Amino acid sequence: MPRRLAFFLLLLLLQTAWSQTDSRKWDGLAHDGVHDPRSPALRRLQEPREALRHLPPDGAGNQVQWVEAIERGAIVPRTSLDPERSLRTLDTEVYMNADGSVPIVRFPHRQHTLWLDCSNCHEKLFVSKSGANRISMLRILQGEQCGLCHGAVSFPLTECARCHNTPRTPENVARARKQNRAE
Ligand code: HEC
Ligand code: HEC
Ligand code: HEC
Repeated sequence: MPRRLAFFLLLLLLQTAWSQTDSRKWDGLAHDGVHDPRSPALRRLQEPREALRHLPPDGAGNQVQWVEAIERGAIVPRTSLDPERSLRTLDTEVYMNADGSVPIVRFPHRQHTLWLDCSNCHEKLFVSKSGANRISMLRILQGEQCGLCHGAVSFPLTECARCHNTPRTPENVARARKQNRAE
């Protein structure tokens, strides 16, 4: 009976889609180790599950693909408290670790400037000149440099391939070398 089969397949499809969205789990506010579970104010706060389950899924961190969320317009964060101030984005990318053993790190400015102001990183955290900063994985793992945010407020450091995102082809290595040569 093809119609019944079609109906069955549709149900299966819906169920798969449903279980996929539903497989993400967030700690309730009363069990997150941050909020006081006895506080009556807890009921007035939105549960993470309620707020986050509509956003693009991710397998790591707080299980939301935040860059996708902002690019798709699923969230539209206010640029600044000052309504006159507009977003300042930058499109350049910096290739790092030209001579390493793991894939090259391609640092994208655009995705960062969708969330952050230049002054969040320049000139204290990083000098705005490629190759001018001694960036190291050890320092990152200690919560410095990229690790100030990654592993704290943005995707965790266990997601190696999101930073080491570019294959070590001769062209990419040449580009990294050229960029890393601080003039
Ligand atoms: C937030 C971004 C980020 C994440 C996540 C990350 N790294 Fe790195 N990693 C870097 C940067 C930046 C450097 C330094 C690049 C340079 O030399 O200029 C680096 C350097 C390294 C180096 C030394 C250079 C080399 O290629 O030999 C190794 C090894 C390394 N990372 C391994 C890892 C492993 C393994 C993981 C996952 C457990 C990881 N990284 C996760 C950004 C990251
Ligand atoms: C999340 C941190 C971060 C933010 C935000 C950021 N930058 Fe950068 N920027 C970097 C890093 C890391 C480098 C690479 C430094 C290196 O290679 O040692 C860099 C390099 C640069 C460079 C030199 C390389 C290139 O791409 O030309 C310039 C210029 C620069 N940034 C300007 C800006 C401006 C302007 C803004 C704001 C619109 C901005 N940056 C926002 C982290 C950031
Ligand atoms: C001041 C905070 C901050 C610093 C410092 C920072 N990042 Fe990020 N980064 C973010 C935020 C916020 C996002 C977007 C949210 C997310 O993906 O978790 C992001 C996203 C990314 C992405 C994903 C872009 C995409 O298209 O999904 C990469 C790759 C990345 N960062 C690499 C780096 C590297 C490499 C460094 C160090 C050289 C670094 N970041 C330093 C805050 C930071």
